[in-house]
Amino acid sequence: MKILGIETSCDETAASVCVDGKIVSSALSSQEIHNKFGGVIPELASREHEKTLNLIVLKALKESKLSVKDLDGIAVTQGPGLSGALIAGTSFAKGLAVGLNIPILGINHLEAHIFANFLAEPELEFPFVCLLVSGGHTQLWEIENFMSYRLLGETRDDAAGEAFDKGARILGLGYPGGPEIEHLAKNGDHKSIDFPKALMKKNNFEFSFSGLKTALLYYFEKNKKMKIEDIAASYQFAIIDVLVKKLKYAADLTNCKNCVVAGGVAANQFLRQHSKKQMSNRNIIFPHPSLCTDNAAMIAYLGEKYLSIGKTSHLNFSISPNMKIV
Ligand code: KG4
Ligand code: ZN
Repeated sequence: MKILGIETSCDETAASVCVDGKIVSSALSSQEIHNKFGGVIPELASREHEKTLNLIVLKALKESKLSVKDLDGIAVTQGPGLSGALIAGTSFAKGLAVGLNIPILGINHLEAHIFANFLAEPELEFPFVCLLVSGGHTQLWEIENFMSYRLLGETRDDAAGEAFDKGARILGLGYPGGPEIEHLAKNGDHKSIDFPKALMKKNNFEFSFSGLKTALLYYFEKNKKMKIEDIAASYQFAIIDVLVKKLKYAADLTNCKNCVVAGGVAANQFLRQHSKKQMSNRNIIFPHPSLCTDNAAMIAYLGEKYLSIGKTSHLNFSISPNMKIV
């Protein structure tokens, strides 16, 4: 099937075409307008999607060498995400689906992040454990099969990406904070400060990062002259080490050989190195960094999987800003 995927849940406007399980095009526009505010401004995000979506969809179609008339269906992010941003994407997709008289399907953005791993490893076998780490979510899943998922645990407060973003803001860095902290941390010593790690008992699959962020705030206020690279490296280590230890416990508990990491934080190179070192007995998969952060290839790919077994949404489906996987 030839499926157009559309993603507008936050601050990336993206479109992609998937043909029989292969991504043949992927176009994306990152909204830089938010950088100066240190975070995403929802109203600005919706307006930017409205402005850019048409161009991005045309770009994806051009790159795929297909015309709209060749499409068999449209997959669009239904949630979770910012309401106005989701409305911009779903309204556009619905208009196109009506005009072309083809089926449409609302996609769960988080489930799509998980399935982006099949783009990295098409032969990936079930079951596997997934560490899902994005700007709004930090969850551990046991993925038993397609459409059969078990939540092992999630964060009680901030998500890992949020901890990076808030930490960067405290340190006076730009948005998004993850790449900024990662960049500084490369020239720092992660052993220089022992930041707190919460909920570290072996069979606890919950996370908490709000105390860490507060610890950074107090530390930075008292130690303004300390080398910022060392602070960034120690802060990054405190986040990543917790993620890796919990992923390891989850792999041990479920006895899954395959582990995958998904979501924007999975683009972090230190997370990749540290997990491979700490879990050398497991097969750990990371999508290409461009498929970890928000993109439409993952929406088109998962959309095709569902549409090809006949799953569709009614045209009057609503956005779901707090959508859950199960
Ligand atoms: O999945 P994503 O693109 O959007 C959501 O669905 O939330 O994740 C965005 C999050 C942001 O918090 C950003 O700071 C973080 O992913 N991120 C990173 C890196 N690249 C993006 N965190 C750590 N290291 C990175 N290289
Ligand atoms: Zn995302």
